[in-house]
Amino acid sequence: MPVVSIQPSGKTIDAAEGTRLLDILLNSGETIAHKCDGQAQCGSCHIYVQEGRKSVSKIQRNEHEKLDSIIGVGSKSRLACQVILGNENVSVELLGFSSGF
Ligand code: FES
Repeated sequence: MPVVSIQPSGKTIDAAEGTRLLDILLNSGETIAHKCDGQAQCGSCHIYVQEGRKSVSKIQRNEHEKLDSIIGVGSKSRLACQVILGNENVSVELLGFSSGF
């Protein structure tokens, strides 16, 4: 069972493999925008996956295209609504701004 570590809050969540990262963050009480409800259209759920990137689902075309259009994107960037957990622990960093606008 993977553990999701969340920065900057420092929370750690036991999560099930195959769970969507956005759902984990919302269920843990984190504040994260998700204006398109997980359609990879708004970019508001942009986060950095600091550790465990190889174990989560790969970036698909629609996510890639959206990330290309938003500010502050780096090699660790993902849209939380498009990330499905694998079997390894993951560390994510929530961004203090809505980069998708
Ligand atoms: S909720 Fe809109 S891109 Fe993730």
